[in-house]
Amino acid sequence: MNRAALRVSLLFPLLLLPSLGRAGSDQEHGGEETPHSPGKGHSHWSYEDLKHWSTDYLDCGGTKQSPINVDTAQAIFSPDLRPIQISGYSLPASEQLKLKNNGHTVVLELPDSLALTGGYAQQYRAAQLHLHWGSPSGPGSEHTINGHRFAAEIHVVHYNTKYDSFTEAMVHPDGLAVLGAFLEVGHGENQYYHEILKHLFEIQEVGQETSVPGFNIAGLLPANLKFYFHYNGSLTTPPCYQTVKWTIFNQTMLLSHHQMSVLVSTLRSPDDEILQNNYRPVQNLHGRRVLASFQATPPVKHTPGSGAPATAEGHSSSFHAGDVLAVLFGVLFAVTALAFLLYIYKHRSQNARLDSPTKSKVIYTAASTENTA
Ligand SMILES: *[C@@H]1O[C@H](CO)[C@@H](O)[C@H](O)[C@H]1NC(C)=O
Ligand SMILES: *[C@@H]1O[C@H](CO)[C@@H](O)[C@H](O)[C@H]1NC(C)=O
Ligand SMILES: [Zn+2]
Repeated sequence: MNRAALRVSLLFPLLLLPSLGRAGSDQEHGGEETPHSPGKGHSHWSYEDLKHWSTDYLDCGGTKQSPINVDTAQAIFSPDLRPIQISGYSLPASEQLKLKNNGHTVVLELPDSLALTGGYAQQYRAAQLHLHWGSPSGPGSEHTINGHRFAAEIHVVHYNTKYDSFTEAMVHPDGLAVLGAFLEVGHGENQYYHEILKHLFEIQEVGQETSVPGFNIAGLLPANLKFYFHYNGSLTTPPCYQTVKWTIFNQTMLLSHHQMSVLVSTLRSPDDEILQNNYRPVQNLHGRRVLASFQATPPVKHTPGSGAPATAEGHSSSFHAGDVLAVLFGVLFAVTALAFLLYIYKHRSQNARLDSPTKSKVIYTAASTENTA
């Protein structure tokens, strides 16, 4: 009996492992990527001059560049990607934030009391946020989803708390985490974006800055921080450091048509034109994996939900995980049962042979060897 008992006692603990898998797997996080270096508004690059970026800034020609197109059919569903958690994003109106036209975008500097506290394996502090947009005649998000470009995109830039500053963090592979979300035109006015857009006319010229009273910065991001794509990439502007772990949310933000017009037609660029189409084209994946925190490819028997497709996918994804576990448990039980039956069968045939007087000596030796092994 020793062997069978041993096998059973070894296999049953194994049955518990699949449920432990979720808790222990946060290794996926810890990547790279970042957008603009705050405070450096004097760089000479431009979006008309993309071809020369990699001459002046070597990393811009690298193999982990951003932005990318996210092909949702290729994204790898990773249940261990936990919801993004932010803290300290609700700022009192008494706290003044600097808003600046740096010639490439509008940048809102953020106090480092804002933090990323969940969804990533490490802790990050906020540095700044900024936007990318198109023109009155075309969209201008940086990332695309299945080839679709959205009207605009917000980037909230964070740096790893193990470094003393954004500038120090941005050169390290695990230095930066950027949250990205798409902006689309919808019905009502967005009150959170209004807090920024109403100040744009004060910073029309390159280098101008103004003060913005604190508000709930979280309102600039989607309400749902559970469903997102994740990949390792870079700053999307020179110096293009490949130090950014990107999160691209599946839920989009809505601005009124008028708000979107203000965004794409108020600021001026260094060549004294309207600052438009400040997005970099999508970059080659070079074999990089894109993870999804939700089941991005609908299962066959998926019920379409027009209002919140992401939520519907999320529910069906948990059923799928359940199916996989059920099969796994079934297989382990089958293996255990089979091992036990084999033991019984073997044991019985050995006993039968022991009954034979001519071979008893040899058989007895073999059996005792087996039992003490
Ligand atoms: C990102 O890079 C880190 C460090 O090399 C790696 O452990 C992680 O698996 C990568 N993430 C993805 C999604 O490829
Ligand atoms: C959200 O995910 C769904 C399902 O994969 C996809 O069809 C849709 O394009 C995604 N949208 C964004 C903004 O990621
Ligand atoms: Zn950016």
